[in-house]
Amino acid sequence: MTADLILAGDWATTKQNYLINLSGENLLVNFEGSIKYKNSKQIRKAGPIISNSNLPEFKNVILHLANNHFTDLGFRNALDNISMFKKKRIKHVGFGKSLSDSRKELILNIKNKKIAIIGCCEPQFGVSNINRGGVAEVGPWIIDKIIKLKKQCDYIIVSIHGGLETSPWPMPETRDLYRSWINAGASIVQGHHSHIPQAWEKYNKGYIFYGLGNFCVDPENWKDHKNNLWSIGIELFFKKKLVVKVKNYEIKKNNKFVSVTPAKNNQRYKKYFNIVNSNFKNEKNLENIWNELSLQLFNFFGKKYMQWTLSPIKIQAKNIVKTLLKWKIKPNYIYYYHMLSLDSHRIMLKNATSILCGEKSFRSKKKIKKLIKNYCYF
Ligand SMILES: [Fe+2]
Repeated sequence: MTADLILAGDWATTKQNYLINLSGENLLVNFEGSIKYKNSKQIRKAGPIISNSNLPEFKNVILHLANNHFTDLGFRNALDNISMFKKKRIKHVGFGKSLSDSRKELILNIKNKKIAIIGCCEPQFGVSNINRGGVAEVGPWIIDKIIKLKKQCDYIIVSIHGGLETSPWPMPETRDLYRSWINAGASIVQGHHSHIPQAWEKYNKGYIFYGLGNFCVDPENWKDHKNNLWSIGIELFFKKKLVVKVKNYEIKKNNKFVSVTPAKNNQRYKKYFNIVNSNFKNEKNLENIWNELSLQLFNFFGKKYMQWTLSPIKIQAKNIVKTLLKWKIKPNYIYYYHMLSLDSHRIMLKNATSILCGEKSFRSKKKIKKLIKNYCYF
């Protein structure tokens, strides 16, 4: 059966041939990184610079652009991509020449139904503001827009690039935020950025997919974790009522191309979601997972990026000459912004420090540590 609209995860391609072997009319995918043009100029940022070598080839492609890489090669290069999309009649959402332009919803008309798509991402390098264009940062405007669009459209999809990259479990704060959008009238929340499939749920009258995973990437670049090369695909059928089918797609490579196809054997994925979704639904378990994970992430990279790794005494011993001459530690504002802007980083710092200072009580449990060891990667 041909899906009317497929919602997919991250598209990040290198120089390969790619084949999307799916049955559908329209495909909404997160386009993680722009195509590189001649006069591109990398922005200053923390984290890798990513560009896409290929556009997805599908009957009708819709690109979600609000992500942490679409502006990596500069605003000019992003605008060159927009011109190319226009020429190719490729629809897109989540990027604009101004703040209001970046927040503009995309309206699709499929089978006499009006479907609104809102695109946004967690705050990070390249977001639009009152003085410049860029990618749309998530904020209270989403609720206002959902309420407004509810009167004009049959369905609303909120597509968001954000959340924890390292875990199949979203933070409790992310869960509460996405649920508030469903409560306001959204039909589906399509999360991406996690690079591994995350928990999903039917909630109130809608569906929330916290992270779909990698839809199409070069397997060579993603060998580090066993869950990088498959994803959740949401197949939508606009019948009298909306029919939602949750599929699993696999990325495979042969001599000639990298392909994305529906999984033939779903046993492995069923097992995965039995563990992931049941722990997500158990509020206490989710809280314990998040507490344990935030402490581990804090030790792994949080305190290093915030330059909290050395005590002043150790700094004095290490840099004795400098210290004697002048007490000075140069702050790395790029890393500070990287840690304080992204909700997932900022909330990790908050949660870890709240446990470490004794504000929040938490005791590590073997069972939770084992879950994190088996299902998270960092
Ligand atoms: Fe991302």
